[in-house]
Amino acid sequence: MNVYDSARMADVLAPLGYVRVDAADGADMVILNTCHIREKAAEKVYSELGRLRRLKAEKERTGRGMILAVAGCVAQAEGGEILRRAPFVDMVFGPQAFHRLPEMISRASRAGGAVLDTDFPAEPKFDHLPAPGKLEGYSAFLTVQEGCDKFCTFCVVPYTRGAEFSRPVAEVEAEARHLVAGGAREITLLGQNVNAYHGEGNDGDWGLGRLIARLAEIEGLERIRYTTSYPAEVDDALIGAHRDVPQLMPFLHLPVQSGADRILVAMNRRHTADDYRRLAGRLRHARPDLALSSDFIVGFPGETEADFEATLRLVEDVTFAQAYSFKYSPRPGTPAAALENQVPEKVKTERLARLQERLGAQQVAFNQGCVGRALPVLLDRQGRKPGQLVGRSPYMQAVHVEAPDHLLGSVMPLTIGAAHANSLSGALTGAFADERACA
Ligand code: 5AD
Ligand code: SF4
Repeated sequence: MNVYDSARMADVLAPLGYVRVDAADGADMVILNTCHIREKAAEKVYSELGRLRRLKAEKERTGRGMILAVAGCVAQAEGGEILRRAPFVDMVFGPQAFHRLPEMISRASRAGGAVLDTDFPAEPKFDHLPAPGKLEGYSAFLTVQEGCDKFCTFCVVPYTRGAEFSRPVAEVEAEARHLVAGGAREITLLGQNVNAYHGEGNDGDWGLGRLIARLAEIEGLERIRYTTSYPAEVDDALIGAHRDVPQLMPFLHLPVQSGADRILVAMNRRHTADDYRRLAGRLRHARPDLALSSDFIVGFPGETEADFEATLRLVEDVTFAQAYSFKYSPRPGTPAAALENQVPEKVKTERLARLQERLGAQQVAFNQGCVGRALPVLLDRQGRKPGQLVGRSPYMQAVHVEAPDHLLGSVMPLTIGAAHANSLSGALTGAFADERACA
C-alpha cells in the first residue's frame, strides 16, 4: 500500500516540476512514507530522520533548501511527537492527506513553521488525484479499498488508516484500463481489508468477486491479484471468482494470525481455527492449484505453549507456500497493549524460530514441488546476467530464464528446472506440459 501511495504522491507532484530520483542527497524534497504496524518499523523513522537532517544541512550550505516530509501511518499516529523530536521536519501528513501536497508545499516554503495535516477529510482523496503516471514494468498496484473496521486488538490500522472506504466500480475500472493502456499486464488490487470491498456499481454495491469478474473483461489484462484479505469476509462470490476467472491468480495471502481459538477470540478475529481450515478447503476445491500465504503473530498476550502448538498444528493441516511471521509487538493505543499477561521476549523469540522453521520447510517443499512442471511466468525485467530475464510465477516466485528481450511483458510457459532458496530457474517450453499445481 505504501508503494502505491508513494507512486501517487509522485503523480501529484509531477505538475509542480518534481521528478523522482534514486537517492536523497541533493534532492529538493524528501518524503519518508512510513509504516506503524510494528514498533521496529516505526523506530526506523527516527534513525532515518537523523541521517536526512545532515543531508538537509548540506543542501542548505549550497544555498538551496530541502523540504523534509514524513508521510504515512507514523505521521498519522505520532504527528505532534515527530515535530517535537525532529523540529527540522517541514511537513507531516497522514495517508488521507497526500492529495493536498501542493498546498502543503506552498505553506511550508512560505517558512511559516512546520505543516501538520493528519485530518481524515470528508471528501475522498481519490477524487483529487491525477491518473497514475508512467508505469515501471508490467505489474501495477491499484487501491480499491482503504481502512479497516475490524479492530483486531493488536492492530493500529483502524486508527491510522481510518474507517473502511471503497472506491466506486467505474472509478476502479477506469484506473485499471488506464494502467493496461500504459502497459500493465498484471494488476494487484489493494486494500487493508480488500475483501471488505463494497464499491458503488450501476445496480447497488458490488463485492470484490464481482469487481474481479468485471476487470477480467479488460483486453490485455492477463493477471489479477488482490491483497490483503480477512478470512471471515471471504464470501461465495469471491470463491466463485477463484473458480471462474482464469486471470485471477491461484495464490492468496490470507492472514490467520493464530491457530488457537482462545487467542483468536482475544485478538477479536471473528473466525476460529477450524473456520480457517474449512475456508482453505473451499478455496482449494474451487481452484485446485491454489496456494496459500499467511501472516502469523506469536506471543500475543496470554499465549500458552498449548496455544502455540495449536498454531503449529494449523500450519501442518493447511500448508502454506509462503508466510510472514512476527513476534507480537505492543502498539500504543491498541487494547492488547494494555493486557497484563504479556509474553516474555525470550519465549516469543523461541516460538518464532520454531514456527519459522516449519513455514520455511513448507516453502522449500512447495518450491521443490514446482521442479519439472510448467508454469506461466510474467517476464517483467532483465536479469543480472546478459541474456537472462526474470519473471513471476502465479505463486509470486521469482523465476530466472534465458530468453530474448522481446519477450519482456509476455506471460510465457516455463519448465521449472531447479528450486533455489528464494527463486526458481526455468527454460522456455513450447506448450504447457502439465498444468497441475506445484504441491
Ligand atoms: N504485532 C505483531 N504483528 C502485527 N501485525 C499487525 N499488528 C501487529 C502487532 N502489533 C502483523 C499481522 C498483520 C501483518 C500486516 O502485521 O500479522 O497481518
Ligand atoms: Fe489490522 Fe487486518 Fe485486523 Fe484490520 S483486519 S484490524 S488491518 S489485522
